[in-house]
Amino acid sequence: MKSANNRNFISIKDISREDIENIIELSRRYKEINGPLIDTKRIELSKKKIASLFFEESTRTRVSFETAARNLGMEVNGFSGVEGTSVKKGEPLVDTGKMFSGYGYDAIIVRHNLAGASRFLSDHLSIPIINAGDGSSGHPSQTLLDLYTISEAFGSLDGLHVALVGDLRYGRTVHSLLQAAELFNMKITLYSPPGLSMPEWRIEDYERATGKQVVVASDLTDVLEHADVLYVTRIQRERFALGPEGEAEFKKHQGRYRINRELLESSAKKNLIVLHPLPRDKNCIEIHPDVDSTPYARYFHQAQNGLYVRMAILTTILKQGFEGRQYPNRIQSPSWVDLPVANGNKKGEKLVYRLDEGTLIDHLEVNQAPRIYNLLGLDKFGTSDHSEIVLCMNIRSQKFSRKDVVAIHKVKLSPEQMYKVALLAPEHTINIIKKNRVVQKQKAKLPSPLRAIITCANPICVSRKEHNEYAPSVFYVEKHDPLEVRCHYCEQTLTREHIELDC
Ligand code: CP
Repeated sequence: MKSANNRNFISIKDISREDIENIIELSRRYKEINGPLIDTKRIELSKKKIASLFFEESTRTRVSFETAARNLGMEVNGFSGVEGTSVKKGEPLVDTGKMFSGYGYDAIIVRHNLAGASRFLSDHLSIPIINAGDGSSGHPSQTLLDLYTISEAFGSLDGLHVALVGDLRYGRTVHSLLQAAELFNMKITLYSPPGLSMPEWRIEDYERATGKQVVVASDLTDVLEHADVLYVTRIQRERFALGPEGEAEFKKHQGRYRINRELLESSAKKNLIVLHPLPRDKNCIEIHPDVDSTPYARYFHQAQNGLYVRMAILTTILKQGFEGRQYPNRIQSPSWVDLPVANGNKKGEKLVYRLDEGTLIDHLEVNQAPRIYNLLGLDKFGTSDHSEIVLCMNIRSQKFSRKDVVAIHKVKLSPEQMYKVALLAPEHTINIIKKNRVVQKQKAKLPSPLRAIITCANPICVSRKEHNEYAPSVFYVEKHDPLEVRCHYCEQTLTREHIELDC
């Protein structure tokens, strides 16, 4: 079954191994032609119009996508940087996208500084969206050209030892490449300066998908001795804070790794290839130019391959779409499970929280009651109909020794409030009380997706309120026990202790 996203290209997680192999094969055919097409594909695609919206700087991705589109006979329009556009006047991302859709463009290529920007755009537009790099999140078209270059050199993508070197924290190209490595039989080694290591959740994603562990190396020479592919990245100055603090942090990492001819000749395997998504940073050159003329250097081939790979991506998206991958856990489910009601009497009914009509949230951990009160907005509840809210803290519990309880007179919780209780207090029970008797006992159950409940922990995620893009948070429940949720936009996973709830 095809995924709903098969006409978009937002993340490597959306496509299958077969999709990647098809792109590699089509890219190979385009490379053989090496230039504008004069065959039927050009005629088929020649009436298409492509919008190229680069909110962030680019040389390779923008120019190769635009050249690819023109080689296929398409018309291209858009912008390179937001100077001179109404983005400078504060226009939201979706409004800008809607303009191009309304003007009859057939697809939008978007680069943006916010993680998940292209996913958010694809949620709002019916034309295909291609992610040309979003913040430090992903750069899937780069990954396809990386894989094409590797397969060109070795004839296969399986059985290789790939070392990712440099800024693995903010480098979006290595994030997408690690996601793609899940689909192939690769050995992965990571080498980065302290403070710029691969986010743990990305390593866990890879290890869970493959059942294999990545190697985190501390010695670059050791990495070189074993790797078939050395994938080097620049330190992403643009992802550090602006101003002196960010500059100091950046300088701390500058120059911590440097590949040169001597190092390669003394340590590397003879058939090692060195890749780099480019640009290199001339102020702190991570691959010395003396490597450029060695047989190891493949980064300029790699960048050139971007043209053919992007021709293949545009052709695939505008014709049949990707086969795609399915997400098993993304189904809406009821918001609670019913528990047996013993005899309808609350044991503690003679205590202060005796409730004749309403909802009693039981089995909260000690000190959770005030948090529940705030999170559920109970201070704004029922002032007009004389309802009352009672917080009972640190009282005796048969089951948990001590507990908190919240009693809400005359009020039934909404599903969103129940999800918040479930996220904060997994051991809770919710009692619906009518005429002094418990008529229903429930445990709130988390649906997938959870909408507008959790605040994403990623500061550059498009869904965060401070970015003013009005992207409601969407999280998929990846695992219930222990709880793990994944952001729809930036793909970051969060465990229960890192979940911050929307107020
Ligand atoms: N590799 C890459 O994305 O380069 P640009 O930033 O120049 O597009």
